Amino acid sequence: MINQYTVLGQPIAHSLSPVVHQLFGELTQRKISYTRTEATPENFAQLVIDFQASGAKGCNVTAPFKQLAVSLCDKLAPLAQRAGSVNTIRMQRDGSRVGHNTDGLGLVADILTNRRRKLESSRILLLGAGGAARGVLAPLLATKPAELHLANRTAGKAETLASLFSDLGSITSSGYDDIKSDKPYDIIINATTPAAAGGMPDLPDALVDKGTLVYDMTYATSDTAFMQWGKSLGGSAINGLGMLVEQAAESYLIWEGVRPKTRLVYPRLHEILSRPE
Ligand code: ATR
Repeated sequence: MINQYTVLGQPIAHSLSPVVHQLFGELTQRKISYTRTEATPENFAQLVIDFQASGAKGCNVTAPFKQLAVSLCDKLAPLAQRAGSVNTIRMQRDGSRVGHNTDGLGLVADILTNRRRKLESSRILLLGAGGAARGVLAPLLATKPAELHLANRTAGKAETLASLFSDLGSITSSGYDDIKSDKPYDIIINATTPAAAGGMPDLPDALVDKGTLVYDMTYATSDTAFMQWGKSLGGSAINGLGMLVEQAAESYLIWEGVRPKTRLVYPRLHEILSRPE
């Protein structure tokens, strides 16, 4: 019996998740099928229900359905509950669904393991106060940074979000104009949506020096404007490919009970991505 999975989103055609999970299946010698499912706000719930009824073991959920997915779950794991968003659903034999959020664990695993950066006692600047930022706040704070500053175009949204997570660690907030820039940050993470379209907020250059890691949570085949900005100021810059793979590994662990050795996947993934379409 092949374990069936899918990822639902809109648009979904370019999702790399099927490729990543297929590689995980090969690595762990499991027979799995992992497809892409284009959904709409109207048919999302029914697609999930039908997929489960067909015998599937789970699904991933991506933009713009992560919040909607919460209401489809009978139970939420603590990180999904905190984030108010679900990116992984485990479908149980009794017909129930458990919602998880592996985005933040994926981000943290990428920074700690793949980039070999320390998060404990570091100074982190997180840009954006939407769903993407919300999904990573608890795992970031769990690493015990010295400081986590949340900045957003709409300062009030950053303030509200910061207050929702303030019991988990030291978190401050502001609009972009009021980010303190007397000292460069260790890590600056972009969780805003315009990043995907190549845009970025207007930020002071003094936020970056050669020790800064500039991390764009979106994945693109070439450097984003945000990454270019970080590099032009002497920092190092990466995109969200590592986060994508690591959050997928956390989902795979939830479904299959084993976390694939992700370092073995990167060379294969780079080879696949560099092939002409
Ligand atoms: P997601 O779930 O991808 O995070 P979202 O919840 O709609 O999407 O959040 C979008 C984020 O990108 C927010 O931080 C938003 O800032 P506002 O809260 O001020 O709207 C940010 N964003 C969207 N468009 C933007 C723009 N043109 N310039 C700057 N920030 C923008």
